[in-house]
Amino acid sequence: MLIEVSDLSVSYGGLELVRDVSFSLHSGDVLAIVGESGSGKTTVIRAILGCLPHEGRVSGGKVLFEGEDVLAYTPAKWRHLYGTKAAMIFQDSGSMLNPIQRVESQFVEYIREHSPMTKQEAAKAAEAMLKKMHLPNPENVMKSYPFELSGGMRQRVGVAMAMFFEPRLLLADEPTSALDVTTQAQVVKEMLEICRKDKTTIIIVTHNIGVAAYMSEQLIVMREGQIVEAGKTDTIISQPRSAYTKELLKAVPQVGGERYVS
Ligand SMILES: Nc1ncnc2c1ncn2[C@@H]1O[C@H](COP(=O)(O)OP(=O)(O)OP(=O)(O)O)[C@@H](O)[C@H]1O
Ligand SMILES: [Mg+2]
Repeated sequence: MLIEVSDLSVSYGGLELVRDVSFSLHSGDVLAIVGESGSGKTTVIRAILGCLPHEGRVSGGKVLFEGEDVLAYTPAKWRHLYGTKAAMIFQDSGSMLNPIQRVESQFVEYIREHSPMTKQEAAKAAEAMLKKMHLPNPENVMKSYPFELSGGMRQRVGVAMAMFFEPRLLLADEPTSALDVTTQAQVVKEMLEICRKDKTTIIIVTHNIGVAAYMSEQLIVMREGQIVEAGKTDTIISQPRSAYTKELLKAVPQVGGERYVS
């Protein structure tokens, strides 16, 4: 088992807003967490990565990563985990890039923080990774400032950086929702391609049950801080048990005239 979450509860300022979340994943599994705004999706993945906001606290449960209790980690151990074995992609990872520092120098700095490569080696490896994310003209992208790139290209750079060290676990919080629907589908596809090769375990948080259906084999539906439905994605989508899941399914957007979910 790569990750085991059991009865995870999280409180903000003493108020328990996420309760009793449990799931476990093997290497290469893809889990999607869906649910309306405020249902606790981000809170769950932040708790797993030890990066809850200041007022947040894990009030119960356990998180085991490769059998280790990560909730007991020191900040130094977290830093090591993050960046090598686990990585996170945010809604607009592109916006985390410094707009006025060239992609090349940011990517090279990031690589050299976690590995002993020379600048030249790191630059070469970074460019190869951009190519893997199907960025057109990776040499040009390397020389560009983030503000010169489109949102989709910036997000691809963000994904390329997150995947660089072949993390065992990738946590993605609404990784494509800042993009238009067609670009969303492309970026998701490219991300999956890289992850499949590396057998990366993915937890993807999304409002969009269509994206979830496309990417994941396992699905958790959350509402008001709790799991309302969990299981195989196909089963839940073809036979949703809760009225809430049925509602979410009604709201699936279309891609190029086709629904992600039929
Ligand atoms: N920093 C915080 N301080 C206090 N309460 C918070 C904080 N962050 C989140 N919450 C509360 O915790 C609950 C879960 O929020 P969370 O952000 O995890 O939901 P979400 O499912 O990710 O929503 P969205 O789809 O809008 O991103 C909500 O009731 C929210 O108001
Ligand atoms: Mg969120």
